[in-house]
Amino acid sequence: MKVQISKSTTINSVDFSSLSFGEIFTDHMFECDFENGEWKEPKIIPYQPIKMDPSTSVFHYGQAIFEGLKAYKDKNGQVWLFRPEENLNRLNKSAIRLSIPEFPKSFFLEGLKKLLTIDKNWIKPGVGNSLYIRPFVFASQAGVQASPSNKYKFMIICSPAKSYYSGETNVKIEEKYSRAAPGGVGYAKTAGNYAAQFYPTSLAIKDGFQQIIWTDSNTNRFVEESGTMNIFVKIDNTLITTPISDTILDGVTRKSILEIAKSLGLNYEVRQLSVDELVKSSINKSLKEMFGCGTAVVINPIKSFGFRNKKYTLPIIEDPISNFLKEKIISIQYNLSEDIFNWRYKIC
Ligand SMILES: Cc1ncc(COP(=O)(O)O)c(C=O)c1O
Repeated sequence: MKVQISKSTTINSVDFSSLSFGEIFTDHMFECDFENGEWKEPKIIPYQPIKMDPSTSVFHYGQAIFEGLKAYKDKNGQVWLFRPEENLNRLNKSAIRLSIPEFPKSFFLEGLKKLLTIDKNWIKPGVGNSLYIRPFVFASQAGVQASPSNKYKFMIICSPAKSYYSGETNVKIEEKYSRAAPGGVGYAKTAGNYAAQFYPTSLAIKDGFQQIIWTDSNTNRFVEESGTMNIFVKIDNTLITTPISDTILDGVTRKSILEIAKSLGLNYEVRQLSVDELVKSSINKSLKEMFGCGTAVVINPIKSFGFRNKKYTLPIIEDPISNFLKEKIISIQYNLSEDIFNWRYKIC
């Protein structure tokens, strides 16, 4: 791997106590090109703009995929990732669906190790501080032929992040617009999935919600997932989440919650959850908790959901399971507890 260290740093101009998500980037980036049927030698270079021909395929046909994970620093200054191989596996699943060549595991892990070691001063210790890592791949061939590109660029950029109190989350159960359809690309982390969410989400925001809960596109009767989170509910004493399908992103946080629940003998079910059941359980007060989960927030409790112009408010619970699960995950991420699942991945 070629490494070119930046002659200057912007770190001293960054106020780490007030960071907006995803606006500031570290001094270096990882880059690897696919050409003539293979991934070439990767390189780490100073963070900089990329120059592209206006006809470049990604602008026209959207062959673009990405991932999101975080690096955490413990109190001894050691840097850790949380299950990075899951992100690579998912990236490669997305790649196959979008006709993009799969990326080699060794390049990914070695690239992350090198990049994060070089930029480790950007990761501040302490729970809540992290470095958001954005690997992405796009079709980089010039030309507007509507066919898979024969050139791709894989890049990793990193942005210091702080976890904020995400505020009240009131979600709208969406019946008109769909995020994904069977046989489509819902399970892939491809750029277009997110672009297609912006408009319906902006309508929901106008109506006083912060997020949408997507339902299945065939019947609009079953809960799928949220904007960038998988969904759990707790009805009576049972945690319920919907099964992964070709319309739902296989979240690393969701997967981890299920493994923790299993290891602790908590009651949980992975099954379809109908909007009807959700409404009824709210009315008969058996619905105790509802939360979204994902890398960005770990777990985000939901305060209310809106369905057909009615608002259903979740009860205020003492010692919610969402807090308990969040603590469990965070303590593994920040090396504050034993890692019985072997999820921590040491960088340096
Ligand atoms: C659509 C969608 N669902 C769920 C998730 C949660 O996935 P993870 O826990 O891997 O961050 C994300 C975030 O990546 C997402 O974009």
